[in-house]
Amino acid sequence: MHNHWFEEEGIDGKYVPFEIDPNRLEEAVRGMKALNFTGWNVTIPFKEAIIPLLDQVEEDAKLIGAVNTVINQQGKLIGSNTDGAGFVESLYEKRTLKEIQQSSILLIGAGGAAKGIFHALAKLEPAHLAVANRTEERALSLIQSIKTNKKAQAITIRECEKLLSTFDIVINTTSVGMFPHVENMPIDVTKMKNCTLAADIIYNPLETAFLREAKKHGADTLNGVGMFVHQGALAFHQWTGTNPDTDKAVSRITKQLG
Ligand code: ATR
Repeated sequence: MHNHWFEEEGIDGKYVPFEIDPNRLEEAVRGMKALNFTGWNVTIPFKEAIIPLLDQVEEDAKLIGAVNTVINQQGKLIGSNTDGAGFVESLYEKRTLKEIQQSSILLIGAGGAAKGIFHALAKLEPAHLAVANRTEERALSLIQSIKTNKKAQAITIRECEKLLSTFDIVINTTSVGMFPHVENMPIDVTKMKNCTLAADIIYNPLETAFLREAKKHGADTLNGVGMFVHQGALAFHQWTGTNPDTDKAVSRITKQLG
């Protein structure tokens, strides 16, 4: 995706993968800095571990406790997290800010991905925001760790099934339904009676069983390709100052995965 963007934007750059020994992260960061890399993305299992190795971490990433993007500004390493904002950017393809603010939104899952999305959504102040997780304590600790202007709700998946008909937008942030366990679903979709939009952050498969069934029950759907592309575009913008063509990237990746 990034290499396509470099080409499209006429930028002399390369995006390459590096597998790093977990015991040598500090050395790797020093090496990348010495080689004067413009920036990089950070993925599992280093999103938290890299924080103390950076010179500065943006507020959002600090709050979430995870960094996915680093920019090297004349030797000063600055960390941020574009995952949550990337999700919100993809949500804007389906809903305006005003519509989001009038919506009752349910996030399923309370892991790392959920935390970033919760924070980004809470900033938009939807009418209601709830987090449902298999283990309630984790949902509770998520909503307590992130300060919001409006009160958010933490519930168990079981409890949430009783309330499912009260949500307009339901977002799956868990790994339930990801390849190869493609028939698994995070909740009982038949109870999502008034849901107009079901979103999943999974992009393999492109259409999870959750999205397929939600569609059968009348909801519009949003798969994880948009979030993937937009989190990347936000990072690309930090490194290059340009806004890459995200629509083209969504079509290209959808074709590749389809
Ligand atoms: P990530 O950083 O990708 O979000 P994570 O931190 O491991 O990954 O979080 C995974 C999320 O998926 C959690 O909300 C987890 O629920 P628990 O906190 O109860 O473990 C959820 N999850 C994973 N497998 C699940 C399953 N089989 N049923 C329900 N929830 C599941």
